[in-house]
Amino acid sequence: MTAKRGMDSASRLPTNTYLWPLKRYTEMYRRSLDEPEAFWAEQARKLDWFKTWDRVLEWRLPYARWFVGGKLNVSFQCVDRHATTWRKSKVAIYWEGEPGDTRVLSYSTLFREVNHFASVLKRLGIGKGDKIALYLPMIPELPIFMLACGRIGAVYTVIFSGFSPQAIADRVNDTQAKVIITADGGYRRGKTVKLKELTDEAVKLCPSVEKVVVIKRTGEAVPWTKGRDIWLSSLLDEPHEPVAPEPVEATHPLYILYTSGTTGKPKGIIHSTGGYLVYNHSTYQWVFNAREESVFWCTADVGWVTGHSSIVYGPLSHGAAIVIYEGAADYPTLDRWWNIIEKYGVTILYTSPTAIRMFMRSGEEWLKKHDLSSLELLGSVGEPINPEVWQWYYKNVGREMCPVVDTWWQTETGGIMISPAPGIEPIPLKPGSATLPLPGVDAAVVDASGKELPPCHTGYLVIKRPWPGLLLDIYGNPERYREAYWSRFPGVYYTGDFAMRDEDGYFWVLGRADEVLKVAGHRLGTAEIESAVISHPAVAEVAATSRPDAVKGQAIVLFITLKEGNSPSDALRKDIIKHVRQTIGPVATPSKVYFVQSLPKTRSGKIMRRVLKAVASGESIGDITSLDDETSVAEAKRAYQSLKKTQGGV
Ligand code: WT7
Repeated sequence: MTAKRGMDSASRLPTNTYLWPLKRYTEMYRRSLDEPEAFWAEQARKLDWFKTWDRVLEWRLPYARWFVGGKLNVSFQCVDRHATTWRKSKVAIYWEGEPGDTRVLSYSTLFREVNHFASVLKRLGIGKGDKIALYLPMIPELPIFMLACGRIGAVYTVIFSGFSPQAIADRVNDTQAKVIITADGGYRRGKTVKLKELTDEAVKLCPSVEKVVVIKRTGEAVPWTKGRDIWLSSLLDEPHEPVAPEPVEATHPLYILYTSGTTGKPKGIIHSTGGYLVYNHSTYQWVFNAREESVFWCTADVGWVTGHSSIVYGPLSHGAAIVIYEGAADYPTLDRWWNIIEKYGVTILYTSPTAIRMFMRSGEEWLKKHDLSSLELLGSVGEPINPEVWQWYYKNVGREMCPVVDTWWQTETGGIMISPAPGIEPIPLKPGSATLPLPGVDAAVVDASGKELPPCHTGYLVIKRPWPGLLLDIYGNPERYREAYWSRFPGVYYTGDFAMRDEDGYFWVLGRADEVLKVAGHRLGTAEIESAVISHPAVAEVAATSRPDAVKGQAIVLFITLKEGNSPSDALRKDIIKHVRQTIGPVATPSKVYFVQSLPKTRSGKIMRRVLKAVASGESIGDITSLDDETSVAEAKRAYQSLKKTQGGV
């Protein structure tokens, strides 16, 4: 491959077929479905195993168990393997703090630190299978602790540092974590976020927590609970010895990550060690076509799955150099990212449509101040990317020389599922389409009865067989696991997304088909937002929906009826918004609140969400014939009209 790996420029791509058939991709894809076990065994052999598996796959619907009987260790794969070769002096992590401080960790430094942190965990009494929570800013200690947990077989859950005490407590209580690791604070847009104070609030609601380990980041004074709180530095100062990597079963849980669903309570997605790692090791190479010299920057927060798979496990399992930036993209100025790309010679940039839309709005002059010629490939993830945003990214960030990989996946899928794979074979790109499924991914678009649709029909995106990155289960809730993913269409995995497959077989993922919103790429359930709103003392009833937002993709809109004795006011509106921020976190900030006399409901009492969504988006309700079984069209229209009248008023 040449330096600027040749995928055909999108501008030369009016239609479809001139590069077909794709030879390498087609062969590999076909083999992955014809002989899945041989195919995945071949991939798995690229990792080092302490013990080879007995069986590649045990598939007992709805549970898939990969590489059964095999033993491995994730920190060995991501660190030791490289620290014992010439890569020991290769950069593993280029880290930059928001205030401008920097740290560079080689693989041998990472090796030492992971060992050191693993010894700290052991001293805290943490061992294989124990749960701990990480509530940290984007500092090197976060991936180091993740790897240290993997080293001893402990199971961690990362809690996004933008979450509020109630959201932290819900997650900690669900996992029953004994230890929380946090920091005095973190930097965000020049201000500090007081993480220790937020942790203290949360811990009041968490009886399982015995110890709070605190990392010094901002140096600000923090409240202290004697006997419970410990500075990391004091633990690191104690004598320690290297910690041998614990060989764990391939099916041993690596982490639990909470994500929103259609109920008020987030789901604890459990990922495995072996299948998950094999899947991310393979897909990182296929999608990003990385070279030894690549400098890979995934801008996601480690609090989301992208930060697990695409910051830590995919790249580090390959011995790649990664970039981690702590703070906001527009701080102190809108060229912070472009400055980082130039400074570290980033070759692969993996980010979200929301971020690209923000930069697009602020104009190209910020980009022009920097030399971005190191870039070779661009990626997008988290929500559909509008074709014009794709084009802007391709033209202005990629100088029309870098392929754009639009990667579709989910917290539950563990790794990238549908995406161009220039590491297998360059393909013609279509802006707005995630293109083709990766090897082993048996994706299809079906109608409401589960029948596969002909090309160019919109339906539900499903995956017809398990792949190694598939979640193990929902923590403590196997019924919900079966219900959420395997019951809508029996025997196949339901993604919750609407999609269309065109005549070339390219997938166009259009958005969620369920009650889940994507706000700035973050997943939020309407039920979760509603349960936060309803806990406000003035609120009688609430329905959360969304309207399109030029930067964030979707913005949250609330329709609220008040309890007797309360009247609509601007102050109350602000108070409700504040309440939601305090309960879930700033990610869930509602952008609009409508106070209404009543919510439109069907005769059986279900809220007519489509009507609300149409009102919130300023659209007409249009085709509502399939609205809901018990809703008459006339009824919905009446509700729509009466709500339209309230819109805008307090
Ligand atoms: C949902 C999953 C994947 C890691 C980050 C988000 C939407 C994701 C794309 C894309 C269109 C996308 C889907 C999916 N989504 N990537 N390339 N094109 N939609 O993980 O929070 O679990 O959200 O994000 O709706 O179901 P997540």
